[in-house]
Amino acid sequence: MKVLLTGGAGFIGSHTAVALLEAGHEIVALDNLYNSSPEALKRVEEITGKKAPLVVGDCTDEKDLRKVFEQYGHIDAVVHFAGLKAVGESVQKPLDYYQNNLDSTFTLLRVMRMYGCHALVFSSSATVYGTNQEMPLREDFPTGCTSPYGWTKWMNEQVLTDCAHADEKLKVVLLRYFNPIGAHESGRIGEDPAGIPNNLMPFICQVASGKLDHLNVFGSDYPTPDGTGVRDYIHVCDLAEGHVAALEYAMGHAGVEIINLGTGEGYSVLDIVHTFERVNGLKLPYQITARRPGDVAICYSDVTKAERLLHWHAKRNLEAMCRDSWNWQKHNPQGYGK
Ligand code: NAD
Ligand code: UFG
Repeated sequence: MKVLLTGGAGFIGSHTAVALLEAGHEIVALDNLYNSSPEALKRVEEITGKKAPLVVGDCTDEKDLRKVFEQYGHIDAVVHFAGLKAVGESVQKPLDYYQNNLDSTFTLLRVMRMYGCHALVFSSSATVYGTNQEMPLREDFPTGCTSPYGWTKWMNEQVLTDCAHADEKLKVVLLRYFNPIGAHESGRIGEDPAGIPNNLMPFICQVASGKLDHLNVFGSDYPTPDGTGVRDYIHVCDLAEGHVAALEYAMGHAGVEIINLGTGEGYSVLDIVHTFERVNGLKLPYQITARRPGDVAICYSDVTKAERLLHWHAKRNLEAMCRDSWNWQKHNPQGYGK
């Protein structure tokens, strides 16, 4: 099938491009390069030996989207990655987040209908589970958010659910990602955050490379085995393969499905630090500091629905995640140099 990847030059989009091309599909990416570089898709072509065309444009702009549908012939399905994603920034600039993350979906849905494209996979997030205490998190648990970013995901899920109920042709899969880390094993594509990273693994990589002098571990008094926060880290290449399975599922099923993409395993901050040190033969200086406001103690997924509907489960372990993250950072100390 031919798949449009909005936000396809980004971290998850570029890895999904590789997985789709390797599974024999065609892709085209639309990205405004707000948080990415065109170099990512050049490297996707280098890894796969296949074409990964990029249209530089904005998903909130109907003209830009129509250009893709006009130029690239019939598009069978869309994966909608395009969005702003920094939780802290969304608290400072809520309007930018609501505007970009919602308007891009409205415009995309209108243009898909104009061109007879009826299958959509959406990048949602475990953040919609809010402060649920019961683990593992299952798709039918109550939802609610703690940041404007989270609410944009929650609202998008609602919009897409309502549209799928109203249009019997529409096929939607809402993927709730847990914590994607790692990089393609070639070390040619990976996560390239602007400025000082907010997320744990990119921060660790910059400490390991000497760019930052130590890691702050946010809290050691959580009700977890070692007191530090527990998350469900998933290798980005497993996540990418989950998208291939979700697209193949969507093509055959009208309506809407919500599916978690995680490993179902929880690891603490110190598990990550110690595994990273062990597999890469490095020392990571760290200090325990106060909890980060808004963080939950524990978050991991129930993965049975993904296995049942998509016949997909994550295959790569924490060692591979830590090894591949460092392999990317080591070979690309300036990221894509954007
Ligand atoms: P990313 O920032 O690397 O990729 C998003 C891409 O979208 C970027 O290339 C950016 O330039 C582009 N973009 C943003 N607004 C756009 C617009 N209006 N038009 C065109 N392009 C636009 O982020 P990522 O980590 O690859 O995340 C992809 C998606 O998955 C996002 O929607 C994000 O919210 C969601 N998600 C990410 C995580 C995570 O931890 N990385 C977790 C849960 C959900
Ligand atoms: N952490 C530190 N030090 C740091 C950064 C993080 O100790 O410098 C800790 C956090 O307190 C947390 C864990 O590492 O316990 C993971 O933090 P991340 O910032 O990497 O990830 P989050 O779980 O907070 O959030 C991520 C994405 C969100 C998404 C959420 C659920 O950033 O966009 O997963 O999918 F909503």
